[in-house]
Amino acid sequence: MHIGILGTGAMADALGGQWRRAGHQVVAGSRSRGDVRAAVEHGADAVLLALPYPAVVDVVAELDLNGRVLVDCTNPVGGPDFALLTAGGPAAAERIAAAAPGARVVKAFNLCHESVWRLTPPVFAGHPLAVPLCGDDEDALTVVRRLVRDLGCEPLNAGGLDRAGLLEATAALLIGLWVGEGADAQAIAPPLEFAGG
Ligand SMILES: NC(=O)c1ccc[n+]([C@@H]2O[C@H](COP(=O)([O-])OP(=O)(O)OC[C@H]3O[C@@H](n4cnc5c(N)ncnc54)[C@H](OP(=O)(O)O)[C@@H]3O)[C@@H](O)[C@H]2O)c1
Repeated sequence: MHIGILGTGAMADALGGQWRRAGHQVVAGSRSRGDVRAAVEHGADAVLLALPYPAVVDVVAELDLNGRVLVDCTNPVGGPDFALLTAGGPAAAERIAAAAPGARVVKAFNLCHESVWRLTPPVFAGHPLAVPLCGDDEDALTVVRRLVRDLGCEPLNAGGLDRAGLLEATAALLIGLWVGEGADAQAIAPPLEFAGG
């Protein structure tokens, strides 16, 4: 695949490195390194948005992303209490979709720290990491599922883009538990056989 990445920071490096090792052609760009437009033009198959939430909507609004598969890993989380910055309004992924007419947005990769995405593969207690995806376009979801499997992870259907806000809120919850409380957030959910009572 040809993958473009907007951003040249931690997530761009972690995910881009894995996809290069999987044989994909990856071009990344930001204000200080590479070229944002070149990354978009190169990213014929998928464009990862690895930008800070406060910048991402303005950046995509400046670009022609019609028809592009946009992989949104942003977390609109900030402040000392790990607040959800979009609370009461549309999710970050929905704001991105509104700012990029014709783009096919898939929310993915936002729940784990960049160090997890560098693991080869991310397998814990014998279980490959599951990566929930939210999106409305089945072809775009197929592309992103492949990118998930290239990391050695398992894609998980988490619904349409109207549910992306739940993934973003989950990130705020997890970050608060991990960073704020030093808690093992994985312990909050029971095994599947106990999920229904
Ligand atoms: N780090 C994690 O563990 C992690 C995990 C899950 C999700 N996320 C999310 O992933 C996103 C990226 O996180 P990160 O840790 O990779 O951030 P980062 O290391 O701070 O990198 C951000 C990148 O965005 C670029 N950038 C900032 N403003 C820009 C603009 N206006 N135009 C073009 N490029 C711009 C920066 O480069 P220039 O300053 O040179 O432009 C930099 O390359 C965030 O939304 C974050 O919430 C992060």
